Amino acid sequence: MFALNFNNTAMPIFYGKASLIDYLKPLKVLQSTIGFVPTMGALHQGHLALMQKSLTENDHTVVSIFVNPTQFNNAEDLEKYPRTLDADIKKLEALNPNIILYAPAIEDIYNGKPLSEHFDFDGLENQMEGKFRPGHFNGVGTIVKRFFEIIEPTNAYFGEKDFQQLQIVKKMVAKNKLNVIIIGCPIFRESNDLAMSSRNERLTVFERNEATIIFKALASVKAKFITNSSTEISKWVEKLFQDNPHFTLEYFVIADEETLVACTRKNKNKKYRAFIAVVVNNIRLIDTISLN
Ligand code: PAF
Repeated sequence: MFALNFNNTAMPIFYGKASLIDYLKPLKVLQSTIGFVPTMGALHQGHLALMQKSLTENDHTVVSIFVNPTQFNNAEDLEKYPRTLDADIKKLEALNPNIILYAPAIEDIYNGKPLSEHFDFDGLENQMEGKFRPGHFNGVGTIVKRFFEIIEPTNAYFGEKDFQQLQIVKKMVAKNKLNVIIIGCPIFRESNDLAMSSRNERLTVFERNEATIIFKALASVKAKFITNSSTEISKWVEKLFQDNPHFTLEYFVIADEETLVACTRKNKNKKYRAFIAVVVNNIRLIDTISLN
């Protein structure tokens, strides 16, 4: 069976779920494992690393490219989100032409109504990104669940840069008893340690260079966490960004890795992470680091 491929490549590309489901059916009969890497495109090295892991660990790998409207709470962010499908296809082909690409139109996913389901993620959704991006995680839950229903992957791969998203997807899978293993993968960084993100494409060269402040701050936070309290460290980070003319701190939180609840007193039996979101020129950048 041939994929509907408008791009004149050898890679199977599907723009509609019906033909993708047909294509995957015989693979499932053979009990092949299917790895899945969901993306919103503008692919970078971090995405390609997730795909490489999936290719190594599964018989087949499906990649989705879909800028999901329901997870954007900011119209400008949605409008300006980079859309680079032709360049992305070239990157996928160069990585491995056996990758199966699903690049649906909004209609194929939402049947004319781009609306989110409402989820209860046991409070994970109310922390950090949830406070600043109302409705974001309902949108993420909706699209990821929809993809899982269509593709029925064995394993699905998510980057740890969006650590809250990773925990939320794990929660959704557990609560809905979905038959998929969620695998978190380490953050990929640019040469100046800026966490790779499709939004980085919108930064000027100057902003990209200056953005090194984010990881430098996190690295210092990790060192300070040995002896300082979360409150002391938060004050230090707030001051660092108050003194910076280009980057505005949206939030900085040290939180329990499991519950994502802010740490008030350290407990040596818990694992903590620092989470940060900053804005430069209307572009939001997030990052995180494990502290213990
Ligand atoms: O992390 C992303 O790129 C998106 O949130 C995802 C998981 C592809 C859902 O649209």
